[in-house]
Amino acid sequence: MNVLRAATITVAATATVLALTAAPAVAGGHGAVGSAGLGDPYFPLAGNGGYDVRHYSLDLNYVRATNHLDATTTITAKATTELRRFNLDLRGFTVTGITVNRLRAEFRRDGQELIITPKVTLKRHKPFVVTVRYNGQPTEVIDPDGSSEGWVTTADGAFVVNEPQGSPGWYPANDNPRDKATYDFAITVPKGITAIGNGRLVGKRNHGDKTTWRWREDSPMAPYLATATNGVFELRVSKAGKIPLYHAVDPVEVPNGAFDRLAAEAEVIAFFSDLFGRYPFSSGGGIVDHAPEVGYALESQTKSQYDRTPDPSTVVHEISHQWFGNSVSLTVWPDIWLNEGFATYAEWIYSERHGGQTAQQSFDEVYATPADDPTWTRPPGNVGGPQFLFSGTVYARGGATLQALRVKIGDKAFFRLLRDWYAKNRDGNVTTADFVALAEKRGGQQLDAFFDTWLYQPTKPTTW
Ligand code: ARG
Ligand code: ZN
Repeated sequence: MNVLRAATITVAATATVLALTAAPAVAGGHGAVGSAGLGDPYFPLAGNGGYDVRHYSLDLNYVRATNHLDATTTITAKATTELRRFNLDLRGFTVTGITVNRLRAEFRRDGQELIITPKVTLKRHKPFVVTVRYNGQPTEVIDPDGSSEGWVTTADGAFVVNEPQGSPGWYPANDNPRDKATYDFAITVPKGITAIGNGRLVGKRNHGDKTTWRWREDSPMAPYLATATNGVFELRVSKAGKIPLYHAVDPVEVPNGAFDRLAAEAEVIAFFSDLFGRYPFSSGGGIVDHAPEVGYALESQTKSQYDRTPDPSTVVHEISHQWFGNSVSLTVWPDIWLNEGFATYAEWIYSERHGGQTAQQSFDEVYATPADDPTWTRPPGNVGGPQFLFSGTVYARGGATLQALRVKIGDKAFFRLLRDWYAKNRDGNVTTADFVALAEKRGGQQLDAFFDTWLYQPTKPTTW
């Protein structure tokens, strides 16, 4: 489900032209060679060209005591061109064998690129199946901002979080949010350990001193939203309307009220379903681990993840990402405000509609920060590099942008815009330019200058 859009994205009135430089494939010889990246301005090697993944089947065997992962990933994909060689993203591990359409394939490694040459050239538009066997100690991925992600070990397992580039630290992927796919997980761990993947629990089987946990996510998912978090957990299953909710809490966090915080998800899901449109997925839930060194929460699809017992507003934030970020996904990472600005705004409107601070009051707080604050000097639509991907401006000024827009176009048009944004782009990928275009339609006015002021200028907006 690779949404390769038009090669040029023009952003508001800034005349910023973001060319998606990497061609999906390079021609030559018999069949093309899939490119090593998809040209993301912040993570140029993330993702690969020439094919479109439909489904990942992750078979993971993990023992925390030795920190050893023994795994097979099976990928069903479709070639978008005739393909004699293609790449996956994988960091570390020993790869012990790869097949393509059941035939042994040649491969080599080059940094995060796993370069695969199938025995038989792949035909354009034809599905193919790749299996990758690999094992070893997972390596944590350190981001340009110093945060760590991927397979982050805890006292009794691993807290598995991947935004933006942790996935290749534990499974071979086409690691780009444009290539969404469905997922199956079979996670085998020592008895007594709970392993949690995305989606619904579809099986749990004990064999010898091991347990295999099977999970299935049947909605398209960006690779960075996958998880296989494991450890000692208490797992509770409940329902929000018709959908199952899975709540897993590390026993260390139970006395901190973690289950009560997670129980609030049902009401939050109902609230946003009303406001934005029906909940995107066939299951939901959350994981409270004890991994305070991680320092952030993540909206992994259907299983929001918390490194400790979260504040109520963090739960609201992560649940809102199921709509904005997970169902409606980025095309390129520099548009991160479309995730974090929306989730921040979701916190504000949740508070407003629950008798708390209004969104305008939250806006006023942000607006009160002095003009030399990074909120104003670092515009959220162009933070300047991957080391600033999750900087405060993306959240605060991103949220403020939406409140300013609400005031400008009026409540009726604004809330219809949010609903339509979701309805039109459900399970899809978007850009800032797409949002500007829809906002202009629903708002019935030209908004280039407005968005330029709020998203792209390195100064505090004074008039808009
Ligand atoms: N998307 C997460 C949130 O809900 C933040 C992820 C931060 N990731 C990182 N590697 N620092 O705000
Ligand atoms: Zn967020």
